[in-house]
Amino acid sequence: MTTIKTASKASGVGSLLSEIQIIDRIFNHVDQGTTDLGDTVWREPVDNYFAKDRFNAELSLLRHHPIPYCPSAALTKIGSYQARKAAGTPLLVARGRDGKVRAFINACRHRGMQVASGNGCSKAFICPYHAWTYSLEGELRAIRGKEAFPDMDPSRNGLVEVSALEYGGIIYVQQEGKINPTALEGNLEYFSPEQQLFDQSETSNNANWKLITETLLEGYHIKSLHKDTFYPYGLDNVNLVEIYGANSRITFPFRRIEKLREVPSEQRKIDGMATTVNHIFPNASVSSLSKHASLTIMEPLTPSSTQMITFLMTSKHADESNISIEAAKKDAKFVSQSGQDEDIAAACSIQETVTAKANSHLTFGYFEKAIVNFHKHLTKNL
Ligand code: FES
Ligand SMILES: [Fe+2]
Repeated sequence: MTTIKTASKASGVGSLLSEIQIIDRIFNHVDQGTTDLGDTVWREPVDNYFAKDRFNAELSLLRHHPIPYCPSAALTKIGSYQARKAAGTPLLVARGRDGKVRAFINACRHRGMQVASGNGCSKAFICPYHAWTYSLEGELRAIRGKEAFPDMDPSRNGLVEVSALEYGGIIYVQQEGKINPTALEGNLEYFSPEQQLFDQSETSNNANWKLITETLLEGYHIKSLHKDTFYPYGLDNVNLVEIYGANSRITFPFRRIEKLREVPSEQRKIDGMATTVNHIFPNASVSSLSKHASLTIMEPLTPSSTQMITFLMTSKHADESNISIEAAKKDAKFVSQSGQDEDIAAACSIQETVTAKANSHLTFGYFEKAIVNFHKHLTKNL
């Protein structure tokens, strides 16, 4: 289920290792007692985790940048839709009759009511307030009591469209400007069409979106924070960190990877032997776990709170037949009820100290290379 691109297949991501190289490098680290290291110590001012002007600048970045909205698997049918906020704006993303995915600002052109909520499958969007009706492609199709709006031209009052693009199993949206397809060439094909969505959920947490993101991007804390949850299965601070542009891929090997020592190098498969986390800059990540995969989006609510939107998918296993949806659900439940809670609790704990007088900066060292890359690019793009 672990999505591994070889150097030759991955467009714009030529520096990524093949799975054979990944396994070799992990064994090397285990044998030498080493791990991948960065070359920069990054000091991020604590103000950036609570200041309102910084928060507004970040929201603006999220509106000017292509950001993951949902997996393609969440919108498989004509008429399937997902409505929720992205970077603070209510959006409605739907698959039209032509099979194309479009994103709209979820605001009725009469008096602004949101025309859809949650997710589902529909033939049209009927505003709950006064029942103006929009097609799946966003056109204003019917005005109830049309005689009361003599000057209203329906052709000029469709839902306001924003840029959307489907690439590599993910639907990206960009509210300001148009997505430049070449901007996504540095991203991987994170999900294949066979992967099915089996759950989606949202939780609100009292921590800045960057603090929660940071918990996903290093394995330096496996033994200390996840002593009874992930550590019994995973190696502590033995990680591969690969940077591709603003994105990164971190491989967290399981202890059972040792079994592969007996397998000839060219036949080794990473599937089931590691968790892989791809950080998709700025606010999303795709994790490939033991028996399932997930797309997580950090939606900043306030400088000190974040909605985490999680889509759970079946895994991309070479031998898919032996992993049932039930097994994937069980695997996902283990992760969400154990280590993930510990990560979120850590982020919430830090949020309470950033406004205290203890630290002027949070410090990220050589083990935290992917986080340094995240902050470098965030600073550059703001
Ligand atoms: S606000 Fe939508 S029909 Fe009135
Ligand atoms: Fe963690």
